[in-house]
Amino acid sequence: MNLETSLCGIKLANPVILASGILGVSRSLLSEVIRNGAGAVTIKSISLEAREGHKNPTVIAFDAGLMNAVGYSNPGTAGAKKEFTGLKGLGAPVFASIIGQDASEFEKVAEALGGLEFSAIEIPLSCPHTPGFGTLAGQDTPEKTHEIVRAVIKKTKLPVFVKLSPITRNIGDVARAAEKAGASAITAVNTMGPGMIINIDAKKPVLGFRMGGVSGPALKPVAIRCVYDIYESVKIPIIGIGGIMTGRDAIEMMMAGAKAIGVGSAVHYRGMDVFKKICSEMSEWMYENGYESFDGIIGAAHG
Ligand SMILES: Cc1cc2nc3c(=O)[nH]c(=O)nc-3n(C[C@H](O)[C@H](O)[C@H](O)COP(=O)(O)O)c2cc1C
Repeated sequence: MNLETSLCGIKLANPVILASGILGVSRSLLSEVIRNGAGAVTIKSISLEAREGHKNPTVIAFDAGLMNAVGYSNPGTAGAKKEFTGLKGLGAPVFASIIGQDASEFEKVAEALGGLEFSAIEIPLSCPHTPGFGTLAGQDTPEKTHEIVRAVIKKTKLPVFVKLSPITRNIGDVARAAEKAGASAITAVNTMGPGMIINIDAKKPVLGFRMGGVSGPALKPVAIRCVYDIYESVKIPIIGIGGIMTGRDAIEMMMAGAKAIGVGSAVHYRGMDVFKKICSEMSEWMYENGYESFDGIIGAAHG
């Protein structure tokens, strides 16, 4: 089965993309993920200055997914410029992910990474557990989304993807604000929450930051609904992320309206070759159901 697709003019061998924050911390790990079948990869989010992130523990698995409060640990633009060189040689598109505390910081990060060979820039406005960024800084409103997207597109010719939060009340309105401001695609969604897990023996929250973002299977129905709402609100493509573990999950996300699929937590559950596994499960389902391409699948649940 041919799973080739395109996203904002970028050719992908398949629509299964590594989500930001999972493995995308070095060129060699990106290469390994591509070798394991990802159609494109996203780097861990980069801020202007290096950040240490939250105290350990930063990630915990529970019975329905993962919860993390990594707190955007990253090497800053200076470290990223050293790490992410020669990206065209990796054999699949690499997407940058940039963060800032305000529009002018976003601009500076976009400008600083401008010389690298990224194929697109993703801007998460949706992290639920890092003070100063994302939902804790109110970046998930239509107004802030518009302001930040305008600032970033002034500084880059690359397609800009806007990553939204599942806790946003009217996610379709935020997606529309991003589209109106010039975004090329919507990435939906980031982790949900924040949530909390308490160790009853220690009588305290498990994560160092106490609370964190929920991902994996617990997030999937919310992510599917978010993508469904966004598909009804915008014309630009959607990258659907949240609890995608199998090929059937990926097809479900496409039926909600996603053109491509992001995979994060599933790497923990199914291993690094989860990208190949999801692709072969998608192919199998498509073969059994008489589909030769994604036409007829994307948005199919909208009746
Ligand atoms: C450990 C961890 C770190 C993450 N770091 C980032 C990040 O730096 N930037 C970002 O946009 N999303 C980050 N995310 C969110 C994921 O990209 C993704 O949106 C979310 O996990 C839902 O997808 P999943 O259920 O497939 O994991 C992180 C998620 C996890 C589990």
